[in-house]
Amino acid sequence: MSAPDELLEEILGRYSDAPNPRLKTVMEAAIRHLHAFVREVDLTRDEWFAGIEFLTETGQWCTDTRQEWILLSDTLGVSTLVEMLNYAASEGTTDNTVLGPFYVPGSPERANGESMLVDPDDGDRVVIRGRVSDVDGNPIAGAVLDCWQNATAGFYAVQQPDEQTPENLRGIYRTLDDGTFEIRTVRPVPYPIPYDGPVGSLLKGNSRGWMRPGHTHVWLKADGFKELITHVFDVESAHLDEDPVFGVRDSLITTFEKDDNGELSTTFDFVLDRA
Ligand code: BEZ
Ligand code: FE
Repeated sequence: MSAPDELLEEILGRYSDAPNPRLKTVMEAAIRHLHAFVREVDLTRDEWFAGIEFLTETGQWCTDTRQEWILLSDTLGVSTLVEMLNYAASEGTTDNTVLGPFYVPGSPERANGESMLVDPDDGDRVVIRGRVSDVDGNPIAGAVLDCWQNATAGFYAVQQPDEQTPENLRGIYRTLDDGTFEIRTVRPVPYPIPYDGPVGSLLKGNSRGWMRPGHTHVWLKADGFKELITHVFDVESAHLDEDPVFGVRDSLITTFEKDDNGELSTTFDFVLDRA
């Protein structure tokens, strides 16, 4: 047995009496994978220290309103992987995707068809309409669609407390008896994830971008159904193929077109899974 193999065996041996079986499983796997990683890349002492400095800086950037660790997880695709594995929904239901850091609970209730745009905005006005149903196509009445979106300037209201009204581009809609809903908003535009910290430097150092494709967030809730956290993406948006947080699913991309009323609109239906 090689010296690194012996070292790994000794370390894992220290967990043989760990009282929490789940913690033991997670720790043993983390250690095995970390050792394999260090050996695979033949990590130098300087590289190891650069990694320690990066992780230290990542922690130092965290505040009540900035979570650099989650951003790191997002840009490594780990947040999306965790969502994928945890939302084991039935065939035919709408795909989920990442929640992201800009959700704020307590959005205002909006009437069907009302606009969630409160502040002046240069963007195109759009309508997102559709139907919420179960997998058999039965309408779900009274389903909640909690929506939030960035303004055309590229920021969410929560990121710009001095420039935007807190309720701007946020709203809670409810489906009608036939399961339909109608949301008025602005056409979602691409925006940057926070890239002025260590995670942004890591993206730049690897020639990766930091622009998310335009999307509207929707968190659906209905009695007797699993909650669904998802986005609706615009097919004409830039960056669909290079989302820095890997949140795009083909099934979540929609097309906006002029409708009979001359409004730019799209129809997007949601299918929820029974709880
Ligand atoms: C968002 O879509 O709001 C988002 C998701 C992950 C990281 C940054 C932003
Ligand atoms: Fe977003």
